[in-house]
Amino acid sequence: MKHFIEINDFSKEEILKCIDDAIRLKKKSSHLSSIASGKVLAMIFEKRSTRTRLSFDVAIRQLGGSSIVLDIGDIHLGAGNESLSDTSKTIALYVDALVVRVNNHKNIVEMARNSSIPIINGLSNISHPCQVMADLMTIKEEKKSLDHLDLVWIGPITNVAHSWIEAYNKKLGFSLTICCPESLQRKYEEKCKLHNINFNNDIFVSDTSKDILGKADVIITDTWESMGEKVDKEELQELKKFTVSQSIMEMAPSECLFMHCLPANRNQEVEAKVIDGPSSRVWQEAENRLHIQKQILIECFN
Ligand code: CP
Ligand code: NVA
Repeated sequence: MKHFIEINDFSKEEILKCIDDAIRLKKKSSHLSSIASGKVLAMIFEKRSTRTRLSFDVAIRQLGGSSIVLDIGDIHLGAGNESLSDTSKTIALYVDALVVRVNNHKNIVEMARNSSIPIINGLSNISHPCQVMADLMTIKEEKKSLDHLDLVWIGPITNVAHSWIEAYNKKLGFSLTICCPESLQRKYEEKCKLHNINFNNDIFVSDTSKDILGKADVIITDTWESMGEKVDKEELQELKKFTVSQSIMEMAPSECLFMHCLPANRNQEVEAKVIDGPSSRVWQEAENRLHIQKQILIECFN
């Protein structure tokens, strides 16, 4: 593996192996190793981050390396006289890998094209592959297998949802249904056209019926207003019936889990009772960012 930009870039076998290796790594009595001794990981965030920033920082330290966070206001990333590709080539002269969170996905692709070191997608307007890898790991830990699981995404088709769709398209064993207002499905379809992404109509529904929820193994949602994206008043109004409420969870089997990448808005996309209740696995997901990203770094350095 060189870059880690999209779930799409990997085979089913590579994804499943990465998850299993991360689960094994997490179980080890010592979290410290020297696998990445002397390696330096740089990180650039065009948008805020708590989990991605901290989990990658701790991940590289636990592997024996170190990290540098480059403040977006202090570097020449695509600003002034320096092109994105020149900045990218320069960074590769000093460090061993780069995590980047960008407003425009095309910029990650451009940086990767011009980089001799691995570039890792720490979230873009299109995708959030590290999050979905951590979520797959969490589901595998909880349910022991991804086979025959019914996953239900409720809410707007965000960057996280997009990476879920890519994971589903890899045929990892689970089925995926996306419950989302019609208008937001069309918005996503437009986005797919703009970015040359295949749009798979089959997995979308515009309500949360008993038929779908009654067999859900996991219900997943995300914020309604992703960083840097506008949601208008009508969209917010339409989304109201997509709040993951206690009554939605009660339509699902009692062992159905609730997941959310965080940060969350309690009582907007999810009721506090659900996210803070017994079905919620949000803290396990957040912790698993560390473990899966250690494995991703190991793969990148290999
Ligand atoms: N889930 C996630 O990526 O969180 P941060 O925005 O805090 O990094
Ligand atoms: N969809 C959210 C995910 C945050 C981790 C956002 O882009 O803001």
